[in-house]
Amino acid sequence: MENRKLVFANWKMNLDIKSSLRLINDIQKANLFFNNLDIVIAPPGVYLYEISKFLEGSHIQLSSQNVFYENNGPYTGEISPQMLKDVGCKWVMIGHSERRQHILETNEMINKKILLSCNNDLNIICCVGESYEERRQGKTFNKIGDQLKRALRDVSANFLNQIVIGYEPVWVIGSGKAAEISDINEVHDFIFDQLKLMYPDSKILPRIVYGGSVNNANISSIMTLNNVDGVLVGNASLDCDKFCDIVLKVGNSND
Ligand code: 13P
Repeated sequence: MENRKLVFANWKMNLDIKSSLRLINDIQKANLFFNNLDIVIAPPGVYLYEISKFLEGSHIQLSSQNVFYENNGPYTGEISPQMLKDVGCKWVMIGHSERRQHILETNEMINKKILLSCNNDLNIICCVGESYEERRQGKTFNKIGDQLKRALRDVSANFLNQIVIGYEPVWVIGSGKAAEISDINEVHDFIFDQLKLMYPDSKILPRIVYGGSVNNANISSIMTLNNVDGVLVGNASLDCDKFCDIVLKVGNSND
C-alpha cells in the first residue's frame, strides 16, 4: 500500500437512496481510474448494501462511516465489522471528530474499534485533529500525539498497511476554507514522525491524508506536500463534477 494515494468521500448524513445511486452512477460514468489511487466512498450506512450491489466489479471501494467494537451480541443499534464486510465494505472510518463530539466517542472506544477491524481485515481510516481552541493555545501537537498513541494502542505493525490516518483540523471542517498549507505540512510531518517513533522497525507506515474543506481549487497545492498521501472530502464529494475533478487532480499529482 505504500505510496498509493487515496481519495476518500465522506458523505456524512446526506442524500437519500435515489440521489445516492444517481451520484454513484455519475461517478462511475466518469470512468476515473489510476493505478496508484484508491477511491473510497462512505455513504450513510443504510444505503451500503444497495450501493455495494451497484458497485459490483467496480474499482471504487465502499466504506462505512462507523463500526462497533464487538463481533455480535446485545448491542442494540450497532453493526459489527463482519456485518459490514457482508454488505460489501472494504473500509471503515473510525474516530471522525463529529462522532467524538456528538456521540461522545472516546479514544478507548476508537482503539477497540481499530483492533477489531484490523482482525477482520478491514481497511481503516482513523481521524485525528485539534479544535480551534487547542490550536490557539499551542496544544495541537500534544492533542494529535495523544490521539494517535491511544488510537493505535496494541495495534501490531502487521496491520499498518490497512491503516490510514486522516488529519482533520476540527474548525476547518465544513467551513469552506481549508487549513493553511504550512499548517497542514507541519502537522503531517509531525504525524509521520510520531508514527516512526511508535513503529521504529516497520518498513510500512500508515498513509496520512488531509481533510477539511478540500475542494477543486485547493487540492493541487495540498497534494504537493511531502507527507500528504491523499484527501478526505466532505461537502465537495456530494457533487459529481467537483468530486471527479478532485480525483483527477490527485490521480495526476506527483509522488
Ligand atoms: P468538508 O470537506 O465538508 O470540510 O468535510 C471534511 C470531513 O469531515 C471529511 O471527513
